Amino acid sequence: VGAASDTPEPHRSVDVRPSSHPYGANIDGSPAHESAAHESARHESAAREPARSGRADASGATPPEPEVVDAGGRAVIPGFVDSHTHLVFGGDRAEEFAARMSGRAYEAGGIRSTVAATRAASEDELRARLAAFVVELRTQGTTTFEIKSGYGLSVADEERLVRLAREVTDEVTFLGAHVVPAEFRDDPRFRDAGTPDAADRAADAYVDLVVGEMLAACAPHAHWVDAFCERGAFTPEQSRRVLEAGAAAGLGVRVHGNQLGAGEGVRLAVELGAASVDHCTYLSDADVAALAASSTVATLLPGVEFSTRQPYPDARRLLDAGVTVALASDCNPGSSFTSSMAFCVAVAVRDMGMTPAEALWAATAGGAAALRRADVGAIRPGTRADLVELDAPSHVHLAYRPGVPLVRRVWAAGEPVA
Ligand code: NIG
Ligand code: FE
Repeated sequence: VGAASDTPEPHRSVDVRPSSHPYGANIDGSPAHESAAHESARHESAAREPARSGRADASGATPPEPEVVDAGGRAVIPGFVDSHTHLVFGGDRAEEFAARMSGRAYEAGGIRSTVAATRAASEDELRARLAAFVVELRTQGTTTFEIKSGYGLSVADEERLVRLAREVTDEVTFLGAHVVPAEFRDDPRFRDAGTPDAADRAADAYVDLVVGEMLAACAPHAHWVDAFCERGAFTPEQSRRVLEAGAAAGLGVRVHGNQLGAGEGVRLAVELGAASVDHCTYLSDADVAALAASSTVATLLPGVEFSTRQPYPDARRLLDAGVTVALASDCNPGSSFTSSMAFCVAVAVRDMGMTPAEALWAATAGGAAALRRADVGAIRPGTRADLVELDAPSHVHLAYRPGVPLVRRVWAAGEPVA
């Protein structure tokens, strides 16, 4: 593992070198011997930052002795940073998935069936399931993960989800604006109004709740606010209300946008200075230009297109325009029930125009950028020792050997976790 350069250039700042393996290669796929830097970086340890013996750190404490781990020529990469998941939920939607594979279209409304199952689940059930997901993520090399609420959609149910998520991660996102829950959509006050804007009125009334009592209950447990700005979910105006209220409550902004069709999500995210806009499946040239001129990361979620049979987003177009791109799993029971970042990397390389190096960067440092984190997603002095040893000589194998469990050992903050 070599120290990464500090270059701010987004697509190349992870530098993983597979020690002394004869088949070693640089992260851009060129043979190891083509890199002069590689010659001087033949480290074979893969654990804690080398501590200088007897020297005190900034806090005055003496760092522990370094632990040296021989990776035997295998590749070591930064732990994956999964910046978009929805891991607290009840039930599953396997039948909906099977129907989609036979031709049924994906619709945002399917979210409501998971809301019903989540509300029906006990807190202990949700907590146990979440704990199992955390193990599932770690064993696949994910060492930092974000979790959104969004399957509660009442004050008490959303509060429960952000509180449970907060037990396992600092990166909690309040997504009360996921869809309009059934009790608002079917409320006779709106439904029987007989006017064409009845659905909008139900959504507006629900947004009043989201920006009021629900946000007040959830903000103390959350770091981020998100809204699903899409046909069938929330309009740009409704999304803006939620995001601005969240920001006023001290939360960072992230947006679900441009998933099911062209729309205003990307423009809204850029205008609000969002850390990330996620999905980005349907983008206009103006959307791409706006992203390129912004600090908003475009987070692509290939698991969604895989399991909804939508076209994959064009990562190449974004990278060529200078946009910072992240890859995330979007693990949820509806649109993408995978927690495998390696799978996302493989699809991004196979079908989205990314090189293996760009895809690995997007799944690590890109995810960190999407969470505005500088302490994870890269292997360099000053970052947390979140490391994954692959059962492979290079990161290229993540895409080259799809579906094969290549994660051999995982360290989070220097401690073995899988
Ligand atoms: O990110 N797009 C909105 N929300 C989720 C899907 C949730 C679901 O279908 O249950 C997503 O794809
Ligand atoms: Fe999502």
